[in-house]
Amino acid sequence: MVREVERPDVLELLQLAESLARDAAAHLREAVNHAQEVDTKTTLTDMVTATDRASERLIVDGIRAVRPDDAILGEEGTADQGTSGVRWIVDPLDGTTNFLYCLPAFAVSIAVEVDGVTEVGVVVDAARDETFSAVRGGGAHGGGRRMRCTDATELATALVGTGFSYDAGRRARQGAVLAELLPVVRDIRRVGAAAIDLCWVASGRLDAFYERGLAPWDLAAGALVAQEAGAVVGDIDGGPPSGAFTLAAAPGIFEPLRAVLRSAGAGIA
Ligand code: IPD
Ligand code: CA
Ligand code: CA
Repeated sequence: MVREVERPDVLELLQLAESLARDAAAHLREAVNHAQEVDTKTTLTDMVTATDRASERLIVDGIRAVRPDDAILGEEGTADQGTSGVRWIVDPLDGTTNFLYCLPAFAVSIAVEVDGVTEVGVVVDAARDETFSAVRGGGAHGGGRRMRCTDATELATALVGTGFSYDAGRRARQGAVLAELLPVVRDIRRVGAAAIDLCWVASGRLDAFYERGLAPWDLAAGALVAQEAGAVVGDIDGGPPSGAFTLAAAPGIFEPLRAVLRSAGAGIA
């Protein structure tokens, strides 16, 4: 990518991301108990509401107003090409199923890349009004405090979050993996919002989280938050986290968990 302007101030990007994510989260809070227009996307269970779209509009308009030359990728269709070297990756409502059922685990997730590297991650848990954020190399913060992942070393006492695809065939395979994992860990949580799962690894509410099939907007911000809180974040083969596989874990259990998941076939589930 050819840079046409000087490198942006990362703290300014953080401020803008936090302010837009908080505004959008307030919008989700206002909308949550009201009837929703619902459409489906990839499958019958993959839903999108008017609120997902309105939240994306609010965020995208806010970015364009201040930084018109940036690229923006939003789950609900925004695909702006930019010239500044900065790209925003937006999930305007992570946890749409929870949102529709008024279950209090849904969030706004905004990551900012500079020259292809995620420099800023912000996730606002809308129901709890809790902001998680990280700047590469600057640590992770949640609820105004510095966060650190757990110091877990035993898989047998690890609390592990996971998530499932919207595709039924893949779900069946993910269920089989889970059946192998469940007896060797403390317990499993399916929170229903991957961005929150990743931030909960950062804050110590989970020892680890894994999911196959995440999109960039599900994982970009939360992965940086988890990493900056000391968690190891990768895929199932030792590479960086990706849509193919994302595992975030306290350093003491990353390898044993990866080994169990790998032998259970989680990488191809
Ligand atoms: C979903 C949630 C869910 C995860 C799915 C995601 P959405 O995002 O993060 O926890 O298991 O893979 O697609 O559709 O609510 O934005
Ligand atoms: Ca999502
Ligand atoms: Ca979403």
